[in-house]
Amino acid sequence: MTEIRKVGVVGAGLMGSGIAQVSAVAGYDTVVREVEQGFLDRGMARIAKNLDRAVAKEKLGPGERDVIAGRLHPTVDLADLAGCDLVVEAITENLEAKHELFGALGGVCEDDAIFASNTSSLSITELAAGTDRPDRFVGLHFFNPVPVMPLVEVVRCGQTSEETFDLAFAFAESVGKSPIACGDNTGFVVNRLLVPYMLDAIRAYESGIASIPDIDKGLRLGCGYPMGPFTLGDFVGLDTLYHITEIMYDEYKEARFASPPLLRRMFLAGYHGRKAGKGFYDYSGDEPVVSDFVK
Ligand code: 3HC
Repeated sequence: MTEIRKVGVVGAGLMGSGIAQVSAVAGYDTVVREVEQGFLDRGMARIAKNLDRAVAKEKLGPGERDVIAGRLHPTVDLADLAGCDLVVEAITENLEAKHELFGALGGVCEDDAIFASNTSSLSITELAAGTDRPDRFVGLHFFNPVPVMPLVEVVRCGQTSEETFDLAFAFAESVGKSPIACGDNTGFVVNRLLVPYMLDAIRAYESGIASIPDIDKGLRLGCGYPMGPFTLGDFVGLDTLYHITEIMYDEYKEARFASPPLLRRMFLAGYHGRKAGKGFYDYSGDEPVVSDFVK
């Protein structure tokens, strides 16, 4: 296979729906697969809302929107991914679940199809080793919100062939992103630096240096970051952040990757950030306010 024409995206959550959106916008026929119709409908509604917003802002004509929507093929049937040249996995961050999915995909897709994972912290080497095509396996790590953030980390492991890497890199460029090449170490480039930064912010708060809004304000106004570390943690999801710390600490055994006690407790209590309505901030009102857990 020398060209990617048809793309499959597995998982229609925040990341998967974003990847499907940019793929369809770039002109690819895109199959979007979810395990349950309800999850699928929610993901497709998110894409429709984004496309409608682009029409309202006159960045897209209504006709163009309809053409893009026509390139998206939602399904709950894994068999519908047959014929995809590239399948990007964006399901839950769980090794067993991903192994199971790629095992099943091996029986559905052509032998030369490329498999990619959007994992932010699991090992690409380990995922590749569990498939029938380790040479055609690569990491494609997008950033949230996918339609907006320009970066994709294209992750090559020892087994990834040169051709696979080049095709994946070119795919990322073709969907309007500016990719960087990364080796397979946990957290790749961005999370390896970003996660300890967010954890340090929590430790700074735990040690009483400043309030959550003031730490956020400090990093926004002092460094020009679009969001402070607590707002960003809520945006990424504190469950996601907590799981990443577990994987990163397990890999590096360095204290800077370990979850601070507060993050673990917020995870256990269901304060998972913006998607849960509450994390460091409470999002139930017009403006976010510091949540009761950390008041
Ligand atoms: N989906 C789609 N589009 C969105 C969006 C979303 N969730 N949120 C905002 N946008 C669009 C808006 O429509 C707007 O588009 P326009 O320029 O065409 O009008 C544009 O983004 C800017 O939005 P706003 O003016 O409403 O808001 P901001 O200027 O505050 O930008 C933001 C919002 C882009 C989210 C900005 O706050 C930001 O860059 N935050 C940091 C995000 C970040 O760091 N992401 C990486 C997280 S780490 C990660 O993903 C890795 C993982 O492994 C943990």
